[in-house]
Amino acid sequence: MEVPASTTLAFPQGFLWGTATSSHQVEGGNENNDWWAWEQVPGRIHDGSRCGLASDWWHRAEEDLAVAAQLGQNAHRLSLEWSRLEPSDGAWHEPSVIRYRQILSHMRSLGIKPMVTLFHFTLPLWVYERGGWESDYAVRRFARYVARVVDTFGDLCNLWCTINEPMLYAVYGYVFGVWPPGSGGLRAAGMAFRNMARAHAQAYELIHARQAGALVGFAKHLRLFDPMDPRRPFDRIAAHVLDYLFNDTTLAAFVDGTFLLPLGAHLRPGPAKLADYIGVNYYSRDMVQFDPRYRDEFGMHRFANPGSEISMAGWGEVYPAGLYRALRRLASFGLPIYVTEFGVPDNDDSKRPRFIITHVAAMRRAIEEGVPLRGAYFWSLVDNFEWAEGWGARFGLLSLDPASQARTLKPSALVYRRIAQANGLERSLVQEVAPDLVPALFDGHSRSAYNGSIMSR
Ligand code: FCB
Repeated sequence: MEVPASTTLAFPQGFLWGTATSSHQVEGGNENNDWWAWEQVPGRIHDGSRCGLASDWWHRAEEDLAVAAQLGQNAHRLSLEWSRLEPSDGAWHEPSVIRYRQILSHMRSLGIKPMVTLFHFTLPLWVYERGGWESDYAVRRFARYVARVVDTFGDLCNLWCTINEPMLYAVYGYVFGVWPPGSGGLRAAGMAFRNMARAHAQAYELIHARQAGALVGFAKHLRLFDPMDPRRPFDRIAAHVLDYLFNDTTLAAFVDGTFLLPLGAHLRPGPAKLADYIGVNYYSRDMVQFDPRYRDEFGMHRFANPGSEISMAGWGEVYPAGLYRALRRLASFGLPIYVTEFGVPDNDDSKRPRFIITHVAAMRRAIEEGVPLRGAYFWSLVDNFEWAEGWGARFGLLSLDPASQARTLKPSALVYRRIAQANGLERSLVQEVAPDLVPALFDGHSRSAYNGSIMSR
């Protein structure tokens, strides 16, 4: 079928073009949380670095947000640092309240709509020391914290993201042991995950009880798992099992409170609504091959698609079609969707400009097919501290020298600006950055060409 020629692949009016950050990764000086403690032990951060001042947002957020506004952004997703606002059990730290109010007010004055994440991987030490997410204590304290946050900042924000990537957090922290708490195994991971799901459910209700018009959702790291050889039944089963365990269980628990096996019984009797939107963080996919020799992977061996473009060692394939597939899949829940993160580790910004275009094209195709996508947040606005990778994996539109705190616009920032300003993908931009995609995207070439160049395996 021919697609009509056009000069801009337009996005719906009011679409949110944003970037995303998290408190620990950009603020600096968060010495009262579990990640800070974790980083002090040599060997845990691959490049031997520390978070330190991070991107110094505690003092420089305004600077970067002003650039975001100049880049045409009308949205930004950030997290509040629990350990700052509640430095010890029950205490409420006014100077931190004031600082966050400044940042949020500044965003609004720039025309940047905030989305606030309530848990993005960092726990106050006092919660961590009492068992972290494995404990019921964390669920209760999180509920109290959320209520206070909404009471304190509800005049500045009504778009909330309760928990970032709960399943990834459980797997990295408890099964792989590469993030805090660093051990525990499957049982502990299941417990922590269930508690995060309970915390999300409580937060959903608490926020709605306090704020009329609140929009509450969560951010799901949706990773695709494809059988390496679709003709081999065991590859198909292995891919399916990973997809079920990593993706389906999270969506069921966070959208309507259902705990699928092996997580246990239902969280609540019958389905309930626990999300006003689904946030999807999309980065890559894994190919899966059943191979019992990989015991630590339970025989479900994962790897990047051989021969594909790889973003950075260990980070996997650049696979924009996966974003389209993820969006189509999530549309079946009947809720609005935000891409709460998409991005690529690319230290010299050689891949990012094209990456942005192909991923935005994937979103546009999903929208064209009826997916209710409302906004997209690029990870990230400025280079920041990338957890176990430390400063070794750079994701920003702005480059940062952590020592001098000097910033420079990367070429990819200008690409994102063109998209945000045009509220769509202009032919002239694609012509400049990825001319090989023009025929498929703009010249009415057949769907198969469109699929072939951007969307397929
Ligand atoms: C996501 C995290 C975010 C950042 C990006 C690169 O999984 O939510 O904090 O680390 O990956």
